[in-house]
Amino acid sequence: MIRFHEKDKTFYLGNDNISYIFKIMQNGQLEHLYFGKKVDAQVEAEHLRRDRSCIGAPDTFENNLDFSLDVLRQEYPAYGAGDYREPAYQLRMKDGSRITDFVYKSHRIYQGKEKLQGLPCTFGGEADVSTLEITLEDAKIDCQMVLKYHVFEKLSVIARSACFQNNGDETLYLERALSISMDLFDADYEMLQLDGAWGRERHLHTRTLQYGKQSVSSARGASSAFHNPFFALKQPHTTEQTGEAFGFSLIYSGNFLAQAEVDHYDVTRVSLGINPFEFEWKLAQGESFQTPEAVMVFSAEGLNGMSQTFHSLFRNHLMKSQWSKKPRPILINNWEATYFDFTEEKILSLAAQAKELGIELFVLDDGWFGARNDDTSSLGDWDVNLSKLPNGLDTLATKITDMGLMFGLWFEPEMVNEISKLYEMHPEWAVCVPGRKKTLGRNQMVLDYSNPEVVEYIYEKMANILDCGKISYVKWDMNRYITEAYSSALPADRQKEFFHRHILGVYALYEKLTTRFPHILFESCASGGGRFDPGLLYYAPQGWTSDDTDAVERLKIQYGTSMVYPIASMGSHVSAVPNHQVARTTSLKTRADTAYFGTFGYELDITSIPEEEKEEMKQQIAYFKKNRDVLQFGAFYRLQNDNDQRVAWMCVSEDQKRAVAAAYKVLAKPNPKLRKIRLQGLNPQWKYRCEETGQTFYGDELMNFGLICETEFTGYMTAPDYPGVHHAGTDIGDFTSQLYTFTAIEK
Ligand code: DGJ
Repeated sequence: MIRFHEKDKTFYLGNDNISYIFKIMQNGQLEHLYFGKKVDAQVEAEHLRRDRSCIGAPDTFENNLDFSLDVLRQEYPAYGAGDYREPAYQLRMKDGSRITDFVYKSHRIYQGKEKLQGLPCTFGGEADVSTLEITLEDAKIDCQMVLKYHVFEKLSVIARSACFQNNGDETLYLERALSISMDLFDADYEMLQLDGAWGRERHLHTRTLQYGKQSVSSARGASSAFHNPFFALKQPHTTEQTGEAFGFSLIYSGNFLAQAEVDHYDVTRVSLGINPFEFEWKLAQGESFQTPEAVMVFSAEGLNGMSQTFHSLFRNHLMKSQWSKKPRPILINNWEATYFDFTEEKILSLAAQAKELGIELFVLDDGWFGARNDDTSSLGDWDVNLSKLPNGLDTLATKITDMGLMFGLWFEPEMVNEISKLYEMHPEWAVCVPGRKKTLGRNQMVLDYSNPEVVEYIYEKMANILDCGKISYVKWDMNRYITEAYSSALPADRQKEFFHRHILGVYALYEKLTTRFPHILFESCASGGGRFDPGLLYYAPQGWTSDDTDAVERLKIQYGTSMVYPIASMGSHVSAVPNHQVARTTSLKTRADTAYFGTFGYELDITSIPEEEKEEMKQQIAYFKKNRDVLQFGAFYRLQNDNDQRVAWMCVSEDQKRAVAAAYKVLAKPNPKLRKIRLQGLNPQWKYRCEETGQTFYGDELMNFGLICETEFTGYMTAPDYPGVHHAGTDIGDFTSQLYTFTAIEK
């Protein structure tokens, strides 16, 4: 999968689908040549490039007007010696200068992949992954830079990271260290990004690249609900099903920068990594700095092809949990059923009802610890609240597991309230600048996870509770971003390391807990989907997608999230109506038809709903159990998104024998056209039966002609005494959904 051609000093990376080619330039630095669909030019690549310069460009070599870094496409560029675009890294020396000259020294190719110390990253065995490590050196300061490239045998993915090692005796300061930089030959792309805010996370937005920089980023201390550490570049004609697309995703949960810069020769520089804003890392003698890993996907099969590659990469090579490939339990969460106002009796009655409906996991959310009866106190005090649960947590867990349910528990480990025993003991553990105003968020402060002592303390508290052995699931929440970033445990010249050190502390706690309790299913959460990123998927194979459980809003959220993240990673619940976030009323069917495309669960008071709704829920749960393997682990295809009004998607089992398609209608239209959706991923020659309609179709009919959906209502519904009521169509009203479940009946 990786070759070095000595004669033209070129590296060839690739597999049956993709090629990634770059070479060592005359100046010892690296020049990017190609990333895309496989090319067979495996002997020489000189013809894939041109030396070039331009009038007025700085000349890299004296008397050579044809070679300038100003216009060459590079692999991991520096600023200051001719290239004026955004660099991949920047080092400051003792004398204040920032000019470096890292040149090729050696490389190493091996099968398999080593773990990045302290950071989440993709993994793979010797049979699946090949690694290239290139060492470049700046001899003047005796500093090395190791660029790591990983090629996956079966996936159109290149993973990359960089490591800086200071071997000299001078202290260096790393002002910027991105994970990837890559210069694409052209600029004729649209940039896709996932942005939003609380309650409307990861909506898909598209913009046409323009000259200059276009970026998304976070400086909140978490990847955030506002932008996701991802972007894609697609050609204008690329659709969900056809055309080329590049996807870039950062395996990181902290501050990030994701940027495309178009220069005046229409070269697009892709940059992705830790946000250089508010970042600096001191590299004392002998110290090193490892960047997070970023992954680059190429698809020649449209955006669905890109997403399926991300899904498969994350499921098979990123989520390290035992649960990554296991069916996820259908859960009930008590949050929207009770909020903080619950008793042991109420919890047990919810659990008993859940068991009767066929639910598999009961999750006790916020409010079970300290003296927490609202959100003003007790974060940090991870001891059971005996006034609410007088028999203790163990007894409650035993009673619930005795019912035949799994038991899960909520924590918010990174936080502390001023009203808490922990804050009384350790006010210096809260993130703030001593002597200055502390900005609260949801009445709480962030614990300083850059301080290993804090991480260790919380680990002991959590482990003590989880040790009871009856807890199978943990919801790990995080409800505010960081302000007044400062650590009392760090010296002045390391304060700009705070954000990265903090997230390394979060990872350290995840690592310790997931190692000690490998059987526990972790779900990450951050006021909903405020930190839904690949970094956390490494530890927690599912994330709470959004606090917004309204089915209509979820169409946008889940549609966007599916661009990068597997269906089985998206926490999705059926909640009460009117919905608690937007006060909209949708049918129980539409709510379930949307939540099926995720982990699936319920979050409402199921003890106080009408009997017929309980019956309907029983059927929903039975349906989900029957089709869970297809829904959670099948190939996912987005089929339609007509201005967020008509949305359709589907999952197909790996053997193509089963499929579930869903078509959603938001607002009804008068006298509409017939709706037809073209399915994907089926075997064209097989005959399929649709469970809901009883019709049979060949795969090619469903994919090439399509499936005509249930007819949308149109007509008059005037006065009841008007005899001529005329209408047609059975899909009536707003916010409806149809499910079509297919099974192959003949080959
Ligand atoms: C925010 C989460 O997103 C909710 O699901 C819930 O767990 C609350 N926090 C509890 O405080």
